Amino acid sequence: MAMHIIRNADLHPFNTFGVHAQADALARFSDVDQLRTLLAAPELAGMPRLFLGGGSNVLFTRNWPGVVLLNEIPGIAMEAEDEHHVLVKAGAGVPWHQFVLHCVDHGWGGVENLSLIPGKVGAAPMQNIGAYGVEIKDSFHSLEALRISDGTMVTFDREACHFGYRESFFKCEGRDRFVILSVTFKLNKAPHVLNTSYGNIQQELDRQGISTPTIKDVSNAVIAIRRSKLPDPAVLGNAGSFFKNPVVPAELAERLKEMHPDMPSYPAGDGQVKLAAGWLIEHAGWKGHRADHHGVHDKQALVLVNHGGATGQAIYVLSEQVLRSVHERFGVELEREVNIL
Ligand code: FAD
Ligand code: EPU
Repeated sequence: MAMHIIRNADLHPFNTFGVHAQADALARFSDVDQLRTLLAAPELAGMPRLFLGGGSNVLFTRNWPGVVLLNEIPGIAMEAEDEHHVLVKAGAGVPWHQFVLHCVDHGWGGVENLSLIPGKVGAAPMQNIGAYGVEIKDSFHSLEALRISDGTMVTFDREACHFGYRESFFKCEGRDRFVILSVTFKLNKAPHVLNTSYGNIQQELDRQGISTPTIKDVSNAVIAIRRSKLPDPAVLGNAGSFFKNPVVPAELAERLKEMHPDMPSYPAGDGQVKLAAGWLIEHAGWKGHRADHHGVHDKQALVLVNHGGATGQAIYVLSEQVLRSVHERFGVELEREVNIL
C-alpha cells in the first residue's frame, strides 16, 4: 500500500510548545501494517525516526533530521471482565483524555485523577504519567509494542516496564527501540475506592457541595483544578511541567527547611525527600519571568511557556538558566521532564 509521505514538514501543529521546526519527512499510521510499510519504505531508509503522539512532552530545539511518524492507531475495547474488574485496551493513537472520559462514563475507576492530561494513550507509559496522587502504573495491565530492529510484537507486563516517577523502560533503555501500539488497563467496577486525598480535590468537591462523590465528580474536580493552574496549550504554548520534582537526601531537605520553613516537601522513602520544583523556581525569582517571546508561567513556575514566536532553542536556554539558578540558590539539581530533541 502506498503511504503518504510529506517532505519538509512543518512540525508547528504537532508540538504543544508551538515552536517551528522542520522534519525531512512526516507520515501517519493507523495500524501495524501501515507502520511496517513505513519502516520498510525505501524512500525513508536510513533516516532517523521520531515517533510522536500529541507532541505534548517534547521540545524541538532544531529541525528534525529524519522522519516523524505520527501514531494514530484508534480504538477502545473491553477485553475481559469479572465481578470486580474490567480489562480495557486502547489504541496508542487515542487521545488520553478521551480514554479517561470513556472509562469515567462507563463507571470504571482508576484513571479519573488523570483527567485532562494532554497527549495520546501510547505515550502514557513512556513517563508513567501521573497527577493528583495517581500514576498509570497503578491501573496498568500490559502493553503491546513493535520492536523496531526486527519488527516483532512484544508484550510488556507492568514489571517489564520498570515504571518510576516520570520514568519507564521506554524513556531509558528502551528509548527509540520500541513503538507502543496499544495499552491495556485493569480498572475497577464498583466498589471503587476514590482517591481524593491529594492536593485540593477534597476542597474542590466541598466547594461544589458534593459530599458523596462519584468517579465523574472526581474527574470534574481534577479538570477544574487543572484549568485554574495549567495553561491551555491551544492558548499558550507549553509542555506541562518542564522539570521533575527533585528527590534529594533527607539531610539536604532538612537544611533547606530550617532556612525556608514554608518550603513544601514530601517523604519519598529510603531517607529521601521529594521537593516541589515549582516552589524552588518561584523562590529563585523566576515565576512570571518574561523574555521576548517566552518565559515562566505566572501561575505555575514549573511550566515554561511560549508567548508566540519563541524558538525551541530559546526555551532550552531559559531552562539552562533556571537549572543553574536553582542550583546556586538551593544546591538542588533539577532534571528536565520534557524530551529535548
Ligand atoms: P509526545 O510528546 O508525542 O511524545 C513524548 C515522548 O514519547 C517522545 O519521546 C516520543 O518519541 C515518545 N512516544 C510517543 N508516543 C510513543 C509510542 N507510541 N511509542 C513509543 N514512544 C512514543 N504529564 C504528566 O505525567 N502529568 C501531568 O499532569 C501532565 N500535565 C500536562 C499538562 C499540560 C498542559 C501539558 C502540555 C503536558 C502535560 N503533561 C503531563 C505531559 C504530557 O501530556 C504527557 O507526558 C503525555 O503522556 C505526552 O503524550 P504525547 O502523546 O503528547 O507524547
Ligand atoms: N508551588 C509553588 N510555586 C509554583 C508552583 C508550585 O510554590 O509556582 C508549590 C505549590 O504551592 C505546592 C507544590 O509546589 O505546594 C506542588 O505544586 P502543584 O500541586 O501545582 O504540583 P507540581 O508538583 O508543581 C506535579 C506534577 C504535575 C501534576 C501535578 C498534580 C511533576 C513534575 N509535576 O506538579 O504534572 O499535574 O503535580 O499532581 O511531577 C507534568 O508532569 O507535566 C505535570 C503537569
